[in-house]
Amino acid sequence: MTKKDTLISFNKILTAPEDAKISIFDRGFLFGDSVYEVTLTVNKEIIFIKEHLDRLNKSANAIAMISQFSQEEIREEILKIQSILGFDRMYFRIILTRGEGEIGLDPDLATKQNLIIIGKSLSEYPTKWYDQGVEVIIADTLRNPRKAMDPNIKSGNYLNNVLAMIEAKKRNAFDAIMLNHEGNVAEGTTNNIWMVKDKIVSTPPLKAGLLEGITRAKILHFESLNYKVIEQDIAPSQILEADEAFFTSSTKEIVPIVKIDDKVIGNGKPGLITKEIHQKYKEIAYLK
Ligand code: PDD
Repeated sequence: MTKKDTLISFNKILTAPEDAKISIFDRGFLFGDSVYEVTLTVNKEIIFIKEHLDRLNKSANAIAMISQFSQEEIREEILKIQSILGFDRMYFRIILTRGEGEIGLDPDLATKQNLIIIGKSLSEYPTKWYDQGVEVIIADTLRNPRKAMDPNIKSGNYLNNVLAMIEAKKRNAFDAIMLNHEGNVAEGTTNNIWMVKDKIVSTPPLKAGLLEGITRAKILHFESLNYKVIEQDIAPSQILEADEAFFTSSTKEIVPIVKIDDKVIGNGKPGLITKEIHQKYKEIAYLK
């Protein structure tokens, strides 16, 4: 018998994935009226759970939703799934929707939220991404402006990012870098973006319109490095001339970028500083 690799907690009831069903009147489905988080467990430990649960609440509050589930309840559900499935490396997606109600934009049409936690085993990503780096494009699709749909809300409405990913796929790229309305670099479709130039490591500031990534925050607070780590506006022309560039996210960690559009970055190989940052990230996340 093969061991099942996925388990769902639906409003705190553990359910097999094939039996987990949500109402077609759920506002997450109808309007993307939901928030979510993604984290991993590595060696059975939940990576930066406090930060993820705090951000889930922050995203919910930003759309006038107060979570009806406590952080402790959500943590317990993750641990339950982890202990039943028992894989060393697991992916967890925590989704909180405003719930079900009559069709209409008025958020008060729903009163009971739905909490869905998807837990599944996660194989290691292709080593090629990390050893050889990835090729990306700069998308024509701009990132949503903060005053329209703030990218710092991790909501269930990812159509903006899906459009950029469609462009990336059309051009056989790994992912897309999205620009903001000022023409500066904002972020990737599901990751933050970084560049290294003359030993200065930089990433766009929050005002550029991006998700305040948890991986990003950890790197900004790294101690005792031989180089500076700063937030600064980045123009496309600057990142094209960078010595190194990389993406960061909770799932893929640090992914070196070796080509942007048709421009080779640095010497076309993952940079040394990028590798050092990845190693340091692993040390604080799970190689403790
Ligand atoms: N994505 N920017 C966007 C738009 C994201 O969706 C993510 C995370 C990040 C990186 O944030 P963090 O370091 O906290 O993971 C930046 C997750 C992994 C996802 O949606 O699967």
